[in-house]
Amino acid sequence: MKIDPKTFEGFNRVLTGVVVPRPIAFVSTISPDGVLNVAPYSFFNVVSYDPATVIFSSSRRAGDKQKDTLANIESTGEFVVNIVVDDIAEAMNMTAAEYPAEDSEFDIAGLSPAPSDLVKPPRVAESPVNLECKLNQIISLGEGSHAHGLVIGEVVLVHVRDDIIDGHRINHQLLKPVGRLAGNMYCHTADVYEMVRPVYQPEASLPTDR
Ligand SMILES: Cc1cc2nc3c(=O)[nH]c(=O)nc-3n(C[C@H](O)[C@H](O)[C@H](O)COP(=O)(O)O)c2cc1C
Repeated sequence: MKIDPKTFEGFNRVLTGVVVPRPIAFVSTISPDGVLNVAPYSFFNVVSYDPATVIFSSSRRAGDKQKDTLANIESTGEFVVNIVVDDIAEAMNMTAAEYPAEDSEFDIAGLSPAPSDLVKPPRVAESPVNLECKLNQIISLGEGSHAHGLVIGEVVLVHVRDDIIDGHRINHQLLKPVGRLAGNMYCHTADVYEMVRPVYQPEASLPTDR
């Protein structure tokens, strides 16, 4: 089967169903009026180390309205990416309804705001990893109700819970990150394995009789 993104009905479900599993950025922001906001975004990834850069993308709300996260980042230029782990998966899900901008999802989901060091938006205390970010730029993709704002942020400070890091090595058995599949489906990351990457050695790869 071949699928044309422009004409296939419900193409978004195909694309999000094949690019899996996706990490989930639990993005905390603050409005200019001081309302704390937090919401999940799985169009999310890290794209460079230096400068340390993450991206995530926000679609429009029903009724072609801007999402609170994007509006807050446009206004303040700051956000925190909190990593979603097993213990906070249900709270994360609770924050994903389209609540009015004046309601804080921290209260709704029973999450605790913890002060950040370099940005105003608080961290989610229950998340073991928090990336404090400053906005680099927002790139507009698509139009009208299909428009997305691709947020590019520089990570200015990383908080990692002490027990899950040993030197520079993160213990994923303890971190327990959650992956997003399609729709309402998620995965744990308990079933991991190692595959050593080969090193290209020109001499060794030549046939021996040459
Ligand atoms: C696991 C998960 C991942 C999501 N990923 C995205 C995403 O990448 N982009 C997006 O626009 N909405 C995404 N959503 C939906 C938003 O979280 C939802 O629209 C939320 O109400 C936005 O809140 P806000 O207006 O406070 O920013 C996701 C929802 C869930 C449950």
